[in-house]
Amino acid sequence: MSKQEKISRKTVKDIAGAKNGTPLVCLTAYDAPMASLLDSHCDLILVGDSVGMVVHGLPSTVGVTMEMMILHGQAVMRGSRLAFVVVDMPFGSYETSPDQAFMNASRIMKETGCQAVKIESGTYAADQIRHMVERGIPVMGHVGLRPQAVNVDGGFRAKGRNDSELERVIAEARAADEAGAFAIVIEGVAEELASEITGLVSCPTIGIGASSACDGQILVTDDMLGMVDWTPKFVRRYGRLKDEIVSAVEEYAADVRARSFPGKAETYRLRKDDN
Ligand code: KIV
Repeated sequence: MSKQEKISRKTVKDIAGAKNGTPLVCLTAYDAPMASLLDSHCDLILVGDSVGMVVHGLPSTVGVTMEMMILHGQAVMRGSRLAFVVVDMPFGSYETSPDQAFMNASRIMKETGCQAVKIESGTYAADQIRHMVERGIPVMGHVGLRPQAVNVDGGFRAKGRNDSELERVIAEARAADEAGAFAIVIEGVAEELASEITGLVSCPTIGIGASSACDGQILVTDDMLGMVDWTPKFVRRYGRLKDEIVSAVEEYAADVRARSFPGKAETYRLRKDDN
C-alpha cells in the first residue's frame, strides 16, 4: 500500500448513474486553488478549453493546445480530490481519426491523471467516441453550440433555430449516446430541444445555456463569479469578484502611495509567529 493520501473521487458510474436523478453540479476550473474551492461542492469539474479565452486571452478556443490542456489538467488534479475531473480535448487533437483521438486522449489521461475527456461531437465523432470508450477512455460529448466550430458557424450562436439545425443537434446527441458517451454537454439550445434530447438519450445531459430541462448544469466559473464584464445572456452572476478585486487593488495602491503599507520586517515577523 503506498503512502499516498487516499483520494476518493466520484466515478464515471456516479456521473452516468445520475440520469433522471438529482441534477449534477458541474463547473470549470483551470488551476489548483480554484479546483480546491469547487471540489466538495461539484460532482464534476471540467478543465474546459475555455481556458484559452478566460486565462490566456485568446479570441476563441481554436488556438488552445494539448500542452495547455495538460498543464491546466495537472493543476486541477492537484487541487481536487473528490470531484470527477474531465479534461477537454483541444481543437485539432481528435477530429482526423479514431486513432488520433485515442493517442491524444491517452496522453491527456496519463499526464494529468484525469478521469475522462470531452470532445465537441459532430455526428462524425461517433467513431472517435466508440474507439476511445472500447479502449478504456470515458468520453463526454458536447453538442449544440460547439465553440471550436466558431469559424464555420461565423460566431457563437444558439443552435436549433430551424428544422435542419434542430435535426442536426438531435442526430449529434444520439450519435454520441449510441457510441458510448457517459454524458453529453448540450450548449446554447432552447428548452424544448434540450428536453427532447434529454428524453431521447440514455446518458445524462449537462446543460449550458440550455434551460433546466437537463440532468445537470455547467457554467464557466469565471462567468458566474462575475470576473468579466461580458458574459452570455443566460449566465446568472452569483458573485461580483471583478468589482471586489478592483477595489482591493485600489485600496492597496492608495496604501502604497501614502506610505501606510506595513514595513517588510514587521510583515515577516507576523508570518513567522503564525506558524
Ligand atoms: O470549455 C468549456 O468550458 C466548456 C463548457 C462551456 C461546457 O466546454
